[in-house]
Amino acid sequence: MSLPPWVAHFGLEKTPFGKSIAPGDLFARPAHVEAVARINFCVAESALGVIVGDVGAGKTVSVRAAVSVLDPTRHQVIYIANPAFGTRGLYVTIVRALGAEPRYLKAELMAQATDLLAAEEDERHRRVVMICDEAHLLEPAQLEELRLLTNAQMDSASSFAGILVGQPTLSRQLRMGTFAALDQRIATRFAVKAMDIGESAAYLRHHLALAGRQEPLFADDAIARLHRVANGLPRMLNNAAIAAMIAAATDGKDLIDDACAKKAAAELTRD
Ligand SMILES: Nc1ncnc2c1ncn2[C@@H]1O[C@H](COP(=O)(O)OP(=O)(O)O)[C@@H](O)[C@H]1O
Ligand SMILES: [Mg+2]
Repeated sequence: MSLPPWVAHFGLEKTPFGKSIAPGDLFARPAHVEAVARINFCVAESALGVIVGDVGAGKTVSVRAAVSVLDPTRHQVIYIANPAFGTRGLYVTIVRALGAEPRYLKAELMAQATDLLAAEEDERHRRVVMICDEAHLLEPAQLEELRLLTNAQMDSASSFAGILVGQPTLSRQLRMGTFAALDQRIATRFAVKAMDIGESAAYLRHHLALAGRQEPLFADDAIARLHRVANGLPRMLNNAAIAAMIAAATDGKDLIDDACAKKAAAELTRD
């Protein structure tokens, strides 16, 4: 497969800042490492945890990193990419993931999900790790379902690990009085913050090294500008870096200077 011209221009071995980065290649900044550690804690303790952060902060990649090292013979991971599937959805998803055909009546469905979760731990000796991404989209009725499930499970010996991952509004939703009971079950909560400028610089170097480039490519003032325009958020910084590299390649430059960063910034902030 041939490389895009802007990648070839800088003599890179592959396209940097791509979406499909292997879990082992992720940049181990402190917030990432800690998010992974919190998820591991939930898995080990069958606890409920909450991970929040702005769009593109690195929440989902931390989940992928944590899941990638779980022993599949000892864990049953149920990953819900988006919970916008109505109120039957949560139990149906669990029941299907555990290999059964969901019962039709809601009351039976809930009991079925509870029994299957218990059986997974007691009989198959596999821990269920339920991860709900974009959990800020959970509706009140779904949070209530989750509460019932944790009640049924967490008071007994058998249980599951649950991780809610979402935008910062999730914390506020959970703090509202109606969900106090669920909120009290949350053993660990962590906010994946944006990167500071030092981390953004290291992030850029990390991705370039993955593409085979050890020498500096971005000038310091360019890094500062890209960091600002991206608000320190990894996904935005990917886009900003790519735009700046394309600008540099178009102008025949070997390094990304602030003029290139300015062009990238103008491109990204244009509405
Ligand atoms: N620690 C990291 N190392 C490398 N790339 C990262 C890292 N964190 C985030 N990214 C990049 O940012 C993108 C967005 O991260 P993601 O976890 O999907 O954000 P969120 O789920 O918080 O919206 C990823 O696709 C990846 O390219
Ligand atoms: Mg995500």
